[in-house]
Amino acid sequence: MVYPIVKYGDPVLERRAAIVTEFDTPELHQFLDDMFESMYAAKGVGLAAPQIGVSRRIAVIDCSVGEVPADKIVLINPEILKVEGKQKGEEGCLSIPGFREEVRRGKRVTVRAHNAIGEVFEMTGEDLLARAIQHETDHLSGRLYITHISTLKRELIRQKVRKLAKAGDWT
Ligand code: NI
Repeated sequence: MVYPIVKYGDPVLERRAAIVTEFDTPELHQFLDDMFESMYAAKGVGLAAPQIGVSRRIAVIDCSVGEVPADKIVLINPEILKVEGKQKGEEGCLSIPGFREEVRRGKRVTVRAHNAIGEVFEMTGEDLLARAIQHETDHLSGRLYITHISTLKRELIRQKVRKLAKAGDWT
């Protein structure tokens, strides 16, 4: 099923998500399918469980947006091991629709995570994939990309969101 995406302002997005201890359950497999379905429906390249209201350390990424099956990545309890180089680029978030800001990230990151059946694996991503890994891992620590921009820019977004919420356009 497609879950609605939780929007900025909901405390679940700024809370540290809980570690996953049970793997390879029908419930987890179903949840992962639902996460991919929800991400594709929203046309995103990454989605973290808190964004659909579930405070668990699970994220999915697909930089091909459903075009290349091998690009589907499941990160459970991810931990960034290494960050190399720098990149600057525009970033957005499904939970903060309508906004994009330039964010500095590492260019190449290595992450360790569990997969759906509980095996530990490591992978390295560059450029957009590196950005997505960092963005989604941040989500699981309750950190949104706007914590990486200037206070002034963040305040402007906060004010605009407040206005949208008041008008009932932020649900
Ligand atoms: Ni996001």
